[in-house]
Amino acid sequence: IKKIGVFTSGGDSPGMNAAIRAVVRTCAYLKVDCVGIYRGYQGMIEADFKPMDARSVNNIINKGGTILKSARCDDFRTAEGRKKAYDNLIAEGIDALVVIGGDGSFTGAMVFNKEYDFPIIGIPGTIDNDIFGTSNTLGFDTATNTVVEIIDKIRDTASSHNRLFFVEVMGRDVGHIALNVGVGAGAEEILIPEENLGLERLLESLKRSKKSGKSSSIVVVAEGDKTGENVFELKDYVEKHLPIYDVRVSVLGHLQRGGAPSCFDRVLASRMGVKAVESLLEGKSNFMVGIQNNEITLTPISKAIKGHTKIDKELIRVSDIMTT
Ligand code: F6P
Repeated sequence: IKKIGVFTSGGDSPGMNAAIRAVVRTCAYLKVDCVGIYRGYQGMIEADFKPMDARSVNNIINKGGTILKSARCDDFRTAEGRKKAYDNLIAEGIDALVVIGGDGSFTGAMVFNKEYDFPIIGIPGTIDNDIFGTSNTLGFDTATNTVVEIIDKIRDTASSHNRLFFVEVMGRDVGHIALNVGVGAGAEEILIPEENLGLERLLESLKRSKKSGKSSSIVVVAEGDKTGENVFELKDYVEKHLPIYDVRVSVLGHLQRGGAPSCFDRVLASRMGVKAVESLLEGKSNFMVGIQNNEITLTPISKAIKGHTKIDKELIRVSDIMTT
């Protein structure tokens, strides 16, 4: 391996820059050339490349987003798009790739690897934490810290006005953010796609908490939850059937994806970046770097995509006990 291309793809997440820095600096340390590919697979198709040396990643470890930009690219889903990307990589002399992204990005990498036998290692970057083979994806820790801080603020107004707040957090298909921030911020209920509570049981639970003497409540709802059509329907339903509550909705949205990465995400990104480059130089390909029991591990990308992440049942139990 003489020249490694690094890129970020899919939704950005805090820690991606720290991972880019780690890949670039490990390349410099091991005397391998490194090229930044802009806008993910789109930049590969358009030959949007820039050589990177150790100094080109100064002062980015603390920055949210990604200096290489990111995109969700439809062209790469076509054989024609992938052929263009391959030709551009060969013309540039790039002979291996590090992809930093989520399951969509890994699926693209796997298809590309199958077609062209191109060496690829993945680093999981998404706030959703929905990738199998790692207890943490880059950005999950930062995003949950950001959300807990916001819910603490919402709690101030909830308790001052005796209100019930539905707070919608990200998580398209999974409830990892919701469950963790729900416990961390002391939510009354946590609604996640993995466990459909049902509207009736939600009402029962809210009634119970009111009866127990609570005057305000916070219900954390994962974006992908199916208890109601959406979070506003939940509000309408509760207002109609439980008029004792003054209800408000707060949809947190993309602010969850921004901001400076936490120390945990910076350290994780650094460890993952080193492992990704070292693995390529050892001749490994088609693996994703992960962290399990604080050990840096490799999981076949095919498993990382297809394996399901399990929701932490113990955390659900803890949450149930905490809402007593
Ligand atoms: O996958 C990360 C994520 O933030 C999801 O939680 C969310 O549903 C989605 O991306 C939003 O994507 P976009 O920024 O493209 O609207």
